[in-house]
Amino acid sequence: MNILLTGGMGYIGSHIALSLLHDKHKVTILDNLSNSNIEVLNSLKFISSEEPNFIKGDVINTELVAKLLKDYKVDAVIHLAGLKAVGESVSRPVMYYKNNILGAVSLLEAMKSCNVLNLVFSSSATVYGIPNFLPISEEHPCKPNNPYGRSKFYIEEILSDLVITDKNWNIISLRYFNPVGSHESGLIGDHPNGIPNNLMPFINQVASGQQTHLKVFGNDYDTPDGTGVRDYIHVEDLSNAHLAALNNIDSNNNYQNYPLNFFNIGTGKGYSVLDVVHAFELANRLDIPYKIYPRRDGDIASSFADPKKANNFLGWKAKQSIDEMCLSSWNFQKNKSQ
Ligand code: NAD
Ligand code: UD1
Repeated sequence: MNILLTGGMGYIGSHIALSLLHDKHKVTILDNLSNSNIEVLNSLKFISSEEPNFIKGDVINTELVAKLLKDYKVDAVIHLAGLKAVGESVSRPVMYYKNNILGAVSLLEAMKSCNVLNLVFSSSATVYGIPNFLPISEEHPCKPNNPYGRSKFYIEEILSDLVITDKNWNIISLRYFNPVGSHESGLIGDHPNGIPNNLMPFINQVASGQQTHLKVFGNDYDTPDGTGVRDYIHVEDLSNAHLAALNNIDSNNNYQNYPLNFFNIGTGKGYSVLDVVHAFELANRLDIPYKIYPRRDGDIASSFADPKKANNFLGWKAKQSIDEMCLSSWNFQKNKSQ
């Protein structure tokens, strides 16, 4: 298929680009490079020996998107372009709503005008908010508690309205849990600017000596060791979920009583912060010093997926272990630090 991949230069998008190229799809990347670097393109070419088309531009530019859909005879779009930092979304909500929601609306407008009606959307487990029950199934109510999460939720609502109105649309929304790890080459990975907010990139920086120790945010949660529990998923497994979604995009199945097809993308297993620290230490034979700090505002005790719906209907299942996530994550960081 000819795929338009928005946000394809970013952490997750670059991994999806590789999976698509590996499966012989033709890939066109649209990215404004607001949170990524043009060097990623060279890594993609080097690893895959294939050349994706790359256009530097913004999804908010409807005419540009429509032109790309026509020029590259696009069959389906995978839409990742968006801003994703929860804390920043609290301080700059309008920027988040503009970029994420207007970006999605612009894309949908362009797709409709070109009659390209196949879409895989990058959503997040954040749409669920504070869990009422675990594991979190797709039946769990959505009550996102920050502007980033709400932007994802509102986009899903827009997509639902669209599929109700026009049955020709084929849309799948994937709700990612906590993506970590890197491609086996170690050439692409999660490389946040400045001090990382997320656990795995922070552990990487402790391992490489850029930080003296990990700050463990709280050890008094109602979890086995008191630290927060999450469903970490290898970014390569996550990428493969997009291939599975594309394979099922036009099956027109309404899998449950919702207009929009959405799927949890996680492993179904929860690991605590200390579990991850110990797995990282064991896998990489390194010490990760840590100190206990107060809880981080807005954090929840536990979040992990019930991934059965994706397993059953997309024929997709996460395969890689927490050890593999830790190994590949450090492999990327080592390459970066050299
Ligand atoms: P990322 O920031 O590495 O990648 C996003 C890419 O989109 C960047 O390359 C950025 O330059 C580009 N971009 C942003 N706004 C754009 C715009 N208006 N037009 C064109 N390009 C634009 O983030 P990521 O971690 O790869 O996340 C990709 C998607 O997955 C995002 O939509 C994010 O919300 C979603 N997601 C990420 C996580 C996670 O933990 N990383 C979890 C759940 C969902
Ligand atoms: C955060 C976002 C979520 C987003 C996800 C992936 C919040 C509230 N949620 O999820 O919307 O989808 O990132 O980008 O920000 N931890 C530490 N020390 C650290 C960093 C993290 O102890 O330096 C702990 C956290 O308290 C948490 C766990 O590690 O228990 C995972 O944190 P993180 O990687 O930031 O992901 P989430 O908070 O689950």
